[in-house]
Order: sequence, then C-alpha cells, then structure tokens
Amino acid sequence: MPCFVQEGENQSTPIEALPGCFRHTIDRLIEAVRQWQELGIRAVALFPVTPPELKTSDARAALDPQGLVPTTVRALKSACPEVLVITDVALDPFTDHGHDGLMSTDGRILNDETVAHLARMALVHAQAGADLVAPSDMMDGRVGAIREALDGQGFIDTGILAYSAKYASAFYGPFRFALDSAPGQGDKKTYQMDPANRREARREAELDEWEGADILMVKPGLPYLDVLADLRERTSLPLAAYHVSGEFAMLKAASEKGWIDYDRCLLESLLAFRRAGADFILTYGAADAAKLLR
Ligand code: PBG
Repeated sequence: MPCFVQEGENQSTPIEALPGCFRHTIDRLIEAVRQWQELGIRAVALFPVTPPELKTSDARAALDPQGLVPTTVRALKSACPEVLVITDVALDPFTDHGHDGLMSTDGRILNDETVAHLARMALVHAQAGADLVAPSDMMDGRVGAIREALDGQGFIDTGILAYSAKYASAFYGPFRFALDSAPGQGDKKTYQMDPANRREARREAELDEWEGADILMVKPGLPYLDVLADLRERTSLPLAAYHVSGEFAMLKAASEKGWIDYDRCLLESLLAFRRAGADFILTYGAADAAKLLR
C-alpha cells in the first residue's frame, strides 16, 4: 500500500484526486496500518509530505535522521513490527524545484552528485529500520551505489526494490498533487524513460539486477503490461508493478459517475498485472481489493 505521511498529530487529510486516500500524521498512519494488517496487507511504501520551508536546492532534509521518513519508520516498526516498511529514495519531496535529482545552475540534473546523495539517504532509512529501500529517481548507477553504502555499514539485510523501468508518464499527476511535488520547471524526461521505448526497459532491468537489486519494478502499470511481461521472461528476480495514482484516479472518477463498476474494474486490473507476471502490486486500491477478496 503506498501511503502519504505528513507532519503533525491526529490528522488525516483527504486527497481530492485520490478518493479514499489520505495524508496521515504518524499516529493516524499507525492506526491505518493496523487496519490494513487485519485485511492481510503486509507491506507499506512511505511517501513524505515535506513542508515548503524544508525544501531546498540541495535537498538536505532527505538526509536528516530526525526527518519525517526515518521518524515514521521507527514508529511503525515499533508499533507494528510485522509490517514490511518500504521507503522511497528520490529527492523530489525535498528539492525546491521538484526534480528527483540535484540540479546544476544551468538547469541540468546532476546524475553522480545525486547518486551520492541517494546512497546517504538510503543509509539513513536503513538505520531507522526500513526493510526495503526503493529508489524511484532513475539516476544511472544508483542501485549499485546504494548497495555498496548499505553493505559498507553492515546493512546487508536491507533490500532494494528498484524502480527499473520507470517511464516519464503523465499518469503521476494525482501523486504530485498529494505531495505538492510537481516540477517547477521542465519535465523528468532526461532521467525517466521514454514511453515509446520498450527495449530500454530490458537494459535498465539488467543493470539494476547486476548492481544488486532484490526486486525489479515497472511503472506505470496497466499501460506498460508489455514491459512487465517482457521482463518476466528475462529475469528470475521477483517483479513488482506500480498501479499508479492516475490509473487509480481514473477508476474512481469513472465509477463515481456511474460509468464503470469500481470493484470489478479494480479486481480485473489487478488480475491483469498478475497475468503479465507481477509478483507484487503497489496499488492505492489495496484495502478495497483485500476486502473484496476475502
Ligand atoms: C517520484 C515518484 C513519483 C511517483 C512515485 N515516486 C512521481 C514522479 O516521478 O514524478 C508516482 C507514483 C504515483 O503516481 O502513484 N520519485
């Protein structure tokens, strides 16, 4: 279950573009996680809402061991030790320009500087108790750098869920509303993949596998099932699919209009991921699906 966590106490702010989803404060998130566990959901992926005053060009808040993500991980692991906690490793919630990487003065994304930052960020998450760190940034070489940083500090059991084939997609819209993280300028096409390119996914997946990824992921989901099926044929690693915010919002919006049956379309979507080869699915509909499948 992807979930949004925000500063403060005792608040759950509904996300308009993701009906049924909230930006929870840590205490509320723990309550939600307990309910999800009863439904059989055993893993959560955390995405932090960073207050605007903490967003900077050097994304330093991403490295703060007392920051929202490490604090949430510690709280969750102590309240619900059984739950698998996945953290997002990317700079977009922390940069003032909204990009996933550090930027040069002339507006280019700095790959290697970003990778060094991400490796330190992953280590902060591992130290807080994250089970899996999930680089969603798409810089080159980040999986290897993160593996080395984790192993170097003894975190040999912290796994890496690699967003291997992440496309520069317009389906991420509601997520960016939820985090207020839309890039101020430009787009993410210099680091995320070209939706027209299928073969590049194979190369990205091979590199991530070789660099030490434990799970590979394809994102977005339904429009990219060919990519998922392709990787299923080529890797023996577990494969994940991300049923992203825009896909989920479409199901909700059309069903609110009475044009489709949400429950059946949700289950059919998840079935299609499974058919194409997904072992795991990240979906905002996880709780709904779990209830339907009982
Ligand atoms: C950014 C990130 C994004 C999502 C997960 N991590 C958005 C983006 O790349 O702009 C999107 C998830 C969704 O749409 O549900 N690191």
